[in-house]
Amino acid sequence: MDMEHEISSSEETSKKVELANEPKLDQHYWDSRYVAGTTGWDLKEPSAPLKSYIDQLTDKDIRILIPGAGNAYEAMYLCQQGFKNITIVDIAPTVIEKLKQQWQDFPQISLYHQDFFKHQGQYDLIIEQTFFCALSPLLREQYVLKMHELLRSGGKLVGVLFDKDFEGGPPFGGCKVEYEQLFKQLFQIQTLDSCHNSVTPRMNSELFVILKKV
Ligand SMILES: C[S@@+](CC[C@H](N)C(=O)[O-])C[C@H]1O[C@@H](n2cnc3c(N)ncnc32)[C@H](O)[C@@H]1O
Repeated sequence: MDMEHEISSSEETSKKVELANEPKLDQHYWDSRYVAGTTGWDLKEPSAPLKSYIDQLTDKDIRILIPGAGNAYEAMYLCQQGFKNITIVDIAPTVIEKLKQQWQDFPQISLYHQDFFKHQGQYDLIIEQTFFCALSPLLREQYVLKMHELLRSGGKLVGVLFDKDFEGGPPFGGCKVEYEQLFKQLFQIQTLDSCHNSVTPRMNSELFVILKKV
């Protein structure tokens, strides 16, 4: 084995050990975060980059999915803008139950307490907002495949991805080159650029992404 290969395989091994030591990111983990109120990711309002994207959409009949939606402020914003077909999926029962109570009078929004990877459907647009970074990096290829499966041909995956690394996780970070590698086989990368209107704490650390299913 040459030196370079030896180093990269030892890096891979230590990455796998590091990930194996992370908390198990299952329903129990995420639900306990909502129960304890340790939801530092929660913006308490729709994310500005997504709001701008939504504002230029004209067809209000498109089928929209928000996976790992949490409090799903973007869903209510979509609803207020007249969108009629919005689906929310989250693995944490507490947040889904809360939204079911709050949004009884909004039939435009369908709520599923479900693992994203088990969700079935066909969408024109899928919105990404701190869901990708919440998943173990070992699931990234599965994420790409599942997004591809859930979109109609020509449908889009749109949102923000972190452009930075974190100690441990979640959140798990990444960078432009990594995302290009990950998505380019199944998606046309229409936008993957620095996000100019991130919320202040995330300024200069996010990429805005528009990926079209080919
Ligand atoms: C970091 S939070 C982000 C929540 C929301 N998107 C936001 O920005 O406020 C990640 C969310 O993904 C959900 N989640 C994690 N794994 C999931 C999975 N496999 N399927 C569906 N939801 C999942 C968690 O319950 C949590 O609500």
